[in-house]
Amino acid sequence: MIELGVNIDHVATLRQARKTYEPDPVVAAALAEQGGADGITFHLREDRRHIQDRDVELLKQTVTVKTNMEFACADEVVAIACRIHPDWALLVPESREEVTTEGGLDVASDNGRVADAVQKLKGENILVSLFIDPDLHQVEAASRLGVDAVELHTGPYALARGEGRIAELARLSDAGRAVSAAGMRLHAGHGLNYVNVRAVASIPKMAELNIGHSIISRAVMVGMKEAVSEMRRILDLCG
Ligand code: PXP
Repeated sequence: MIELGVNIDHVATLRQARKTYEPDPVVAAALAEQGGADGITFHLREDRRHIQDRDVELLKQTVTVKTNMEFACADEVVAIACRIHPDWALLVPESREEVTTEGGLDVASDNGRVADAVQKLKGENILVSLFIDPDLHQVEAASRLGVDAVELHTGPYALARGEGRIAELARLSDAGRAVSAAGMRLHAGHGLNYVNVRAVASIPKMAELNIGHSIISRAVMVGMKEAVSEMRRILDLCG
């Protein structure tokens, strides 16, 4: 069965829009677990635009399924991960201007930054996954680093239409085959939603999908009526 990692960053994005205490991504993680999440994914960005250090500490203490901490190969966050000790470390590229993680890690032309981070994390017995584009050179480079899993970037597949989408799915399938042949666990994520997820979930040996934005978006919609009704009831009691 494919494992579902729920990415809760956007709950924190909403909280940070007001710099207040709600909605709390730690509470969202507990509810995601109740809904059947096999893992909770959270991205501690260098710019701390959504998940905060306090969230990471509390998530580690309260999440009972797998913790998958996503971060860049930067000394400061690598050190935090080594101290927090999530079950999985998911290494991603980061740039200040991006709206979300844009491309995969360029492991093939790594100057030692990725290799250093992998070594430190594996030295702490943390399982390591690399977020890469579905490209055979990147898969080979990831395999050479001895990581436990590769997460294939499904963003271009999610954005493509028609023939383009078929081509992106073929790239994902080919890369997926190479990941499994190299003995690494196959993960995928980015831009997956209730409509486009099936084809990716059908790729042979797919072990885990990490999904955030579509689930948080759906949660807002399915919760809207109840949230308004609750406020209505309070006002009704006030006469
Ligand atoms: N995987 C990685 C590496 C990501 O950076 C993200 C986005 O934070 C996701 C998965 C989830 O993507 P989405 O929010 O589009 O479902």
